[in-house]
Amino acid sequence: RLAKAAFGSRDDLKLSINAVEVLKRRYLLKNEARRVVETPSELFGRVARHVAQAEADYGSPAAVEEAQRRFYEMMRSLEFLPNSPTLMNAGTRLGQLSACFVIPVDDSIEGIFKALGEMARIHQTGGGTGFAFSRLRPRGDVVASTQGHASGPISFLSIFDKATEIIVQGGKRRGANMGILRCDHPDVVEFIEAKGRRGVLTNFNLSVGITDKFMRAVVNGRDFALVNPRTGRPSGRIKAGALFDMMVNAAWRTGDPGLVFLDHINRHNPTPQQGAIEATNPCGEVPLLPFESCILGSINLARMVAEGRPRRAAATVDWDKLRDRVHWGVRFLDDVIDVNRYPLESIADVTRRNRKIGLGVMGFADMLIRLGIAYDSPQAVTFARRLMRFIHTESLNASAQLARDRGAFPAFRRSIHAQGGRRLRNATVNTIAPTGTISIIAGCSSGIEPLFAVSFVRHVLSGTRLFEVNPWFERIARERGFYSRQMLADVAASGSLTNVKGIPPDVKRLFVTTFDVPARQHLEIQAAFQKHTDNAVSKTINLPADATVDGVREIYLAAHRLRCKGITIYRYGSKSEQVLSMGEPN
Ligand code: CDP
Repeated sequence: RLAKAAFGSRDDLKLSINAVEVLKRRYLLKNEARRVVETPSELFGRVARHVAQAEADYGSPAAVEEAQRRFYEMMRSLEFLPNSPTLMNAGTRLGQLSACFVIPVDDSIEGIFKALGEMARIHQTGGGTGFAFSRLRPRGDVVASTQGHASGPISFLSIFDKATEIIVQGGKRRGANMGILRCDHPDVVEFIEAKGRRGVLTNFNLSVGITDKFMRAVVNGRDFALVNPRTGRPSGRIKAGALFDMMVNAAWRTGDPGLVFLDHINRHNPTPQQGAIEATNPCGEVPLLPFESCILGSINLARMVAEGRPRRAAATVDWDKLRDRVHWGVRFLDDVIDVNRYPLESIADVTRRNRKIGLGVMGFADMLIRLGIAYDSPQAVTFARRLMRFIHTESLNASAQLARDRGAFPAFRRSIHAQGGRRLRNATVNTIAPTGTISIIAGCSSGIEPLFAVSFVRHVLSGTRLFEVNPWFERIARERGFYSRQMLADVAASGSLTNVKGIPPDVKRLFVTTFDVPARQHLEIQAAFQKHTDNAVSKTINLPADATVDGVREIYLAAHRLRCKGITIYRYGSKSEQVLSMGEPN
């Protein structure tokens, strides 16, 4: 189970088999013969060394060394990990360290293919891209140069999808995209249905860009005007409620489209004088300006817990440790902005001007288990709010300290923060990322999601299947004396504890899994984190296979009321390709 097994005496880092597998395939450096040439500890050393170089501009050589040591320890102990491109590319020739980008798409053939080329460049370096296609003229609209008819945004979407298919990110993984179309675009119905057939636009998440005006029309049962973006003139009217139902129905069937609440996002745009935000990165957690990028990092909450004494008493949050890791995490991400190698000059400009970072968390479900709080309880929501308020406050404190030492971000004086009284180094500080891969490396639950299952089979990369048992469950089972191989086999067969004999009720309650958590509770947790997150929150509202269309509508409406910045649902079994599946034999 240890990395030792894989790397001999060269590394004493404790990693799960899955973590070692993922690291070897995609993160550890390889030579020309494709042989792995570094250990996981050496990987963290490479990243720490590279990122700490930024410190040389601000401090003494001793300060550089101190930062390097702290960065290394924080990663090696799996307490903090930066987003995948940083782990893969730091200290390499590529040197591109950000996960999140937004590229503008202008309404012309040159504009569209320029964006396509920019996307390719970004994917090549390991980044993911978000686009708003809202400025493109609708299908059938006039094309002056040829007197012909325009193809419309949805047909262009498939070109971006196809190009993504062909370019493998940094030679390591396929790119991810977000495609957004405003709710008042004349092609919105076609957009809503765009992923209706299986196997189309598989490299895109789609979200409708929702305005408050539209939501008011939905709630009040009114008509709603569609507007041609080329002319700015209405091109027709549609019942807002009917349009909303189409979104809900399509999401129920396929998981797409999600919604992004553009007005709410722009009310929190820290730099409105640089223009409006029209898109987010692929998984929705970072609203960005055109040509802006953001670097993410996540603290592993499972490791921010102080052991209960005596042994069986519930553990508590180690707030001092958490504060310390938040401060160093902010510093790490701020340093990355300096040492990053940007794929385009335009991206370097906007990113350095606003210095947005996204420090977040993973292992939230693990932390709750250790604290003895059921994910599916009101206490979990209250606790989530308290936890994130602490992290946000400390992130701002850290950013303010950096501003004192290094200066505020260049666009600070014309940002919303200028009225706030204290200077900040970063226009934004927090993001809740999915942590799809880094949570595997850290061996914790992903992002703020509940456990997927207590035991399950994970499909990774071209057909490999990995069997996993939740380590906290194994530990409690041993401590409380109900551990047996038969019990584990029973759990593995169904993925859930519900029907397994011999497990105490309080343990069953604590290990509630994602499809048993009511949708409303998923949403309440998302909203609780969003309340104290200046960027956005990646969360999937997982629904059981028998969830109803009305249930989805309820969630979409409530997400807007609860001031989420976006919403994504997934109904079990509604997509052909699932990354995780339950109850399969090993
Ligand atoms: O765990 P990891 O750092 O690999 O990534 P994540 O937290 O699951 O995703 C964070 C962001 O990375 C996504 O929102 C995308 O912007 C980007 N990403 C990507 O471009 N391609 C992927 N295959 C996965 C993530």
